[in-house]
Formats: sequence, structure tokens, C-alpha cells
Amino acid sequence: MELIDGKKISAEIKEEIAHKVKAIVAQGGKRPHLAAILVGHDGGSETYVAHKVKACEQVGFESTLIRFEDTVTEEELIGKVHELNHHSDIDGFIVQLPLPKHISEQKIIEAVAPEKDVDGFHPINVGRMVIGLPAFISATPFGIVELLKRYSIETSGKNCVIIGRSNIVGRPMSVLMSQKEMNATVTVAHSRTKDLKKVCAEADILIAAIGSPDFVTADMVKEGAVVIDVGTTRVKSDQTKSGWKLKGDVKFDEVAPKCSYITPVPGGVGPMTIASLLNNTLLAGAKAVYK
Ligand code: GUN
Repeated sequence: MELIDGKKISAEIKEEIAHKVKAIVAQGGKRPHLAAILVGHDGGSETYVAHKVKACEQVGFESTLIRFEDTVTEEELIGKVHELNHHSDIDGFIVQLPLPKHISEQKIIEAVAPEKDVDGFHPINVGRMVIGLPAFISATPFGIVELLKRYSIETSGKNCVIIGRSNIVGRPMSVLMSQKEMNATVTVAHSRTKDLKKVCAEADILIAAIGSPDFVTADMVKEGAVVIDVGTTRVKSDQTKSGWKLKGDVKFDEVAPKCSYITPVPGGVGPMTIASLLNNTLLAGAKAVYK
């Protein structure tokens, strides 16, 4: 069994991006600039956004953090999104999810200009990705593809089972894995799938994106399978300084011995999402997706 080290690969990607930024600036070009909108004080969102801002610094991007209290109205938030859409220095931006209940996430996602949508959540980017046009691809699926490539894991003709059909992970993941570059045969399993254990046990590549800690047990995994754990459920812990720890969707201790490759939590898929976001911002700065 080999551990897929997302932390290491993410650090490598960040270094590559930092090199590219240096070259851009040396040639008189503009530093890519990422803005993040954070609404309220959700602990998870605060941490994720802080990591994103720090990562910008590490690679030499400009970053701007815009904060709103969770009493902000949908109209005010859309106003800020429109402002950023027209801001000449900001190349791309994200609105950290989840948003308070009185705000429609879909409305906010659709207010973001597709050419600045470095999260890849806008229907135009999703649609373009589905038909294989250049698009901003959402960070988690893009990060997983990058891990598979950088570990030279064969995907062509393989049976890939994805558990979960979310717009952010499961669904775009299924599209990317079925496209010509990856060439996998894909099954999207979900809460209504019959005989889920049997379906999973036939996977050469099993991608768990359910958000349910320890959901995937050893009896669901084929000997020699590649297992990608997207779960990042925050659970209380007295073993960490923060009082929290992240738990994956895979019961790691019993599943790992059966795998050829497996991602740990933390340190697997998680760090890759930030590397993907930085990559999208670099592309946005270079106007490489929407020319
Ligand atoms: N919340 C959880 N993951 C994400 C993400 O990738 N982007 C944004 N904007 N919010 C999130």
C-alpha cells in the first residue's frame, strides 16, 4: 500500500506556481490577484479562507479578504459580487460557502462572472467542463485528477465508483473521470443505490465523497483498489490544540491494508484543493480560459 501524499504534491504545485509568478513579474506582468468573500464566523470557513489567503502569499499572488457579518442581505452581497466582477485588478474571486440560510447560494454563484469564477461553480463553467471546453474546474475534482496523474495511477479502462453526487465533488468528478484524458468507466453511487457494498467492491478506483465519517469499510473495497477519501467532517477532539479534528469518509485503519494507493485525512485531497484554486487564479490572471 502506498500513501498518496497530497501535502507533498500540493507543496510541489505551489512551488511551480511561485516560479511562474516570478517569471510573469520579471517580464513586467501583473501579479495574479485572488479575492475571497467570507460571510459570518463559521469556524470551518474561517480556517479554509485563512489557508487560501496564506497560500496566495506563499506563491506571490495578491489577495484581498472581504468580510461581511451574517446579517448581510442577499442584495448587498450581490452588489459586492458585481463590484468584483468589474474590478480591474482582481483576476478571480470566491464566495466561501456555506452562506447563511436567508441567502440563496445558487443566486450568488450565478452572479459571479464566469471568467472570474475560480471556484468553477458557475453553470457556464460546469457546462463548459462537461462538453470538454476550457473552463474553471472546481478545486476538489481537479485536485484529485492531479493526484492520480502525479502518482501515475492508471485510470484508462478502469472501473471508477464515486460515492456522492454533489455539485462540488461527485458530479464533476464523474465527468472528469469519464473524459478522454482519464478514460475510466464511471459509476455514480448515492443514497438510493441498491447493494452499495457490492457496487463499491467492484471498483478499481473508489472515490468517497459522502461527508459521513468512516462510511467506507473494508468489506466495500476490492483487494488492490485505489481509494480516494474526500471526507472532511470536523469532529470534536481532545487530542488537538484547536479542539477539532478532520475525519474522512473511509475507515482508514481497516481499508488501507487492502489498497494499492490511498489518500489519508488530513493530508490527502484537502491540501490539493488550495493548489487547484491557485492554479485557476493563475489561469484567470493569464486570461487562459476565457480569451
Ligand atoms: N466551501 C467548501 N468548499 C468550498 C470551496 O471549494 N469553495 C467555496 N467557495 N466554498 C467552499
